[in-house]
Amino acid sequence: MRRMFTRAGAALLASAWLAAAAQSPAVDATNAEMAKQQQAQQLSQPLNNQPVWSEVRSGAKQYTSIKGRETDVLIQPEGQTWRAARVPLATIGGFLFVATLLALLGFYLWRGPIRLRGKPTGRMIERFTLVERVVHWTVAITFVTLGVTGLVLTFGKSVLLPLIGYTLFSWLAIIAKNLHNFVGPVLVVVLPIMIVLFMRANLFNARDWEWLKKGGGMLTGEHVPANKANAGQKILFWSMVVVLGLTLCVTGLILDFPNFDQTRQTMQIANVVHLIAGVLAVVMVSAHIYLGTVGMPGAYEAMRDGYVDETWAKEHHEYWYNEVKAGAIPAAGHEAPMSHRPA
Ligand code: HEM
Repeated sequence: MRRMFTRAGAALLASAWLAAAAQSPAVDATNAEMAKQQQAQQLSQPLNNQPVWSEVRSGAKQYTSIKGRETDVLIQPEGQTWRAARVPLATIGGFLFVATLLALLGFYLWRGPIRLRGKPTGRMIERFTLVERVVHWTVAITFVTLGVTGLVLTFGKSVLLPLIGYTLFSWLAIIAKNLHNFVGPVLVVVLPIMIVLFMRANLFNARDWEWLKKGGGMLTGEHVPANKANAGQKILFWSMVVVLGLTLCVTGLILDFPNFDQTRQTMQIANVVHLIAGVLAVVMVSAHIYLGTVGMPGAYEAMRDGYVDETWAKEHHEYWYNEVKAGAIPAAGHEAPMSHRPA
C-alpha cells in the first residue's frame, strides 16, 4: 500500500515538474541541457534527484532579484566543508588545552616552584618600566578575557550546558559573546604597542642557543645564564604575542565586521584560522601564566612593581644582570625606592 502511494506520489511530482519546466523554458543552452537531464532523471529514477544536488553543490550562480555580494549563491558548498572541519578541530583543541593544564600540574608536582638558591640581597634592580607594566597588564587582562570567553563560546555547549542548564548557560553565552566581540578590538590597539615595546629585548643572539640546548635547565635544575629575556621567553614572544596575537587580531576583525563585504568563504577560513590560533595561544599563555605566578617566585613581583632582587636577576638572567652592573643598560640600574625593597 505504502509502496503504491510512493510510486503514485513520485509520478505526480514528475509530471508537475515536467509541466513547470514546460511553462518556464530555460533561458540559455546550458540551463536547457541541465533541465532536460533533470526531467529524464525524474522519469528514470523518480526519487533520485542527483543532478539538482550536484548543481547546488557546484555553487553555480543562480538568478536573484536581490543584488549584492553572493546573493545569487543560494547554497554555498564550502559551508559544508567548514561545518565538517570545525567540530573535529575544536575537539582536538579542547583535548590539547586539558593536556596542557595536566602537564603543568604534573610539572609543578614533580619540580615544584623554581626557587632561588642564594639569599636575597635586599638590593633591587629595575626590570620593567611603568609604561612596560601598564601595557603588559592591559594586554594580559584583554588576552585572558578573550581566552576565557573564547573557551566558553567554543566548548560551553558541550561542557557547561549539561552541568549548569539552559537558563544559566544562555546568560553566560550572551555575556561571553558580547565581551569577546567588544574586547577584541581593544587587543587590536594594545598588542602592536606591546610588540614595539618588547621587541628589542626579544631579538635572538648567539647566547640563546646555549640556553636552548640545555632547555634552560628547566628539567635538570642546572643554572643556565640568560639575557634580559631568555630563549624560552623569546620563542613565546615571537610565536604567542607576534604570530598568534596578530593572526587573532586580523581574523577577529574579519569576523567582527561582516559589513565589509567579505565573502562567506573568507569568513569560514577566518573562523577556522581563528579557532586554531586561539587554542594555541590559550595553551601558550597558560604556560606563561604558570611561570609568571606559582612556577617561579619573584617573577610576578617583577611585573607588578617593576623591581627584582639582585639574587633573582643573577640566577635567572645572569647576562642581563652583568650588563646592568657594568652600567651597559643604564635605565635598568636604578636603586629601588624604599617601598620596593623587601622587608
Ligand atoms: C594573567 C596573565 C599574565 C601573567 C600573570 C603574566 C605574568 C608575567 C610576568 C610575571 C612577567 C615577567 C617575567 C620576567 O620577569 O621575566 C611577564 C612578562 C611578559 N609577559 Fe606576561 N603575564 C600574563 C599575561 C600575558 C599575556 C596575555 C601576554 C601577551 C599576549 C604576555 C606577554 C608578556 C611579555 C611580552 C613579557 C615580557 C617578557 C619578554 O620580554 O618576553 N603576558 N608576564
